[in-house]
Amino acid sequence: MKTFNLIIAGVCLMAAVSCNQARNTEQATSEYENAVIENMMTRRSIRQYTGVPVKRETMQTILECGINAPNGMNKQSWEVRVVDDAEVMKEIIGMMAAANPSVDPGAVKGCFRGAPTMIFIANDPSYDCSPIDCGLLSENIMLSGWSLGVGSVCLGSPVRFLNNSPEAIARLGFSEGYTPIICIGMGYPAETPDAKPRDPGKVRFVE
Ligand SMILES: Cc1cc2nc3c(=O)[nH]c(=O)nc-3n(C[C@H](O)[C@H](O)[C@H](O)COP(=O)(O)O)c2cc1C
Repeated sequence: MKTFNLIIAGVCLMAAVSCNQARNTEQATSEYENAVIENMMTRRSIRQYTGVPVKRETMQTILECGINAPNGMNKQSWEVRVVDDAEVMKEIIGMMAAANPSVDPGAVKGCFRGAPTMIFIANDPSYDCSPIDCGLLSENIMLSGWSLGVGSVCLGSPVRFLNNSPEAIARLGFSEGYTPIICIGMGYPAETPDAKPRDPGKVRFVE
């Protein structure tokens, strides 16, 4: 029995070592050695989608990541509404277009970039850190989505149209006192955009 146990332990040890070697080889061939960093560095804004809404089960995980973002005093000063039904989205766009008669209705529709799942985020303007809370929530949503193969684009332009439309805000069911601050379009990517350049000169150590 003792010999049998020793053989089993030996086999397990060999499997663990070979597994570790495989992982190290994989890491060595990847540009980034850390999966979290790779996820951050490869994320791109996506503006072309397959048209299929994000699976509800996947969205639940993404939204849970969102609300686990750091936030001031854990006030969770956000409200999040998800629209993944094309008919509801059409209704909301119609309300927004009606409330912004000087804007071409095509532009109102276009500002959503054709994303099949739309996330509307409202902040609590009575709390000065609420925009930051909503930004951190948004980033968690976009990065967790990216790690699960879901593309996204942060959208500021629909908010201007939305905030002129109490009807659309009511349809989204935001609580009294909450004001839309940002939208996130999500879906399965139908494009692979290049990275946009960043200016490292904006960041420096103070000696
Ligand atoms: C606050 C905010 C508002 C944005 N609004 C829009 C928008 O209205 N329409 C759009 O196509 N992209 C919008 N974007 C996406 C940016 O254009 C994009 O993040 C930027 O060009 C960098 O590209 P990258 O996300 O691929 O790195 C917005 C991003 C942020 C953070």
